[in-house]
Amino acid sequence: MRIVLLGPPGCGKGTQAELIAVNYQIAPISTGDLLRTEAAAGTVLGRQVQAVMASGQLVSDNVVLDMIKRRLTESDTDNGFLLDGFPRTLAQAESLDRLLDTVQQPLDAVVQLDVDAAEIIHRLLARGRADDNEATILQRLSVYEAQTKPLSTYYQRQGKLCTVRGVGAVDAIWGQVYAALCSVVPCTANNG
Ligand code: AP5
Ligand code: MG
Repeated sequence: MRIVLLGPPGCGKGTQAELIAVNYQIAPISTGDLLRTEAAAGTVLGRQVQAVMASGQLVSDNVVLDMIKRRLTESDTDNGFLLDGFPRTLAQAESLDRLLDTVQQPLDAVVQLDVDAAEIIHRLLARGRADDNEATILQRLSVYEAQTKPLSTYYQRQGKLCTVRGVGAVDAIWGQVYAALCSVVPCTANNG
């Protein structure tokens, strides 16, 4: 099972990614987490990406693609993977498709979580990660609208997009995500 989780900052990608990964026994891969690990390591690249993330802009496609290519060679992805926060630009989506085409392992489904901006701002201010201040949240939302939202149409044209409203209880949203995935790929997960 190869899945992309799409949606604005704070829509619950990380929260639902854990549930999907456990139930389908696939590797959850968050480019945000990979970049935060790089930043925490204090490498030259880490310091550069930390500044970009703090501003709410996107890290360059090349840096993120290199990271993803390396991560997808690890053996825990043999049974499939769940990409959280990647792709985020049309160039990233096209590169991912090319990469997966070469190994004849195309994406099975793209799940988009829909949450409105007011709810997102409320959630992220309550969480308080380094990039969860109001100015950066607004910048992340605006970057999402301009650069990531077009991916909905991209995946809709491929017949892979499922949209789920991401507001309400986490378990109820997971139920809808699972139902959406079952409509694309026959249910094999243990939906406990
Ligand atoms: P990233 O780490 O991906 O952050 P994001 O997209 O802004 O999303 P978040 O992680 O903040 O939210 P989420 O959707 O995972 O929701 P979560 O489950 O945590 O990216 C950070 C930065 O890295 C980017 O700005 C960019 O600079 C860079 N980057 C990353 N990927 C990149 C790429 N591909 N290309 C270029 N740059 C890239 O939930 C949020 C909060 O809400 C939590 O507190 C959670 O507990 C709560 N919550 C979850 N579900 C619910 C619910 N149903 N009801 C109430 N609260 C809920
Ligand atoms: Mg996240």
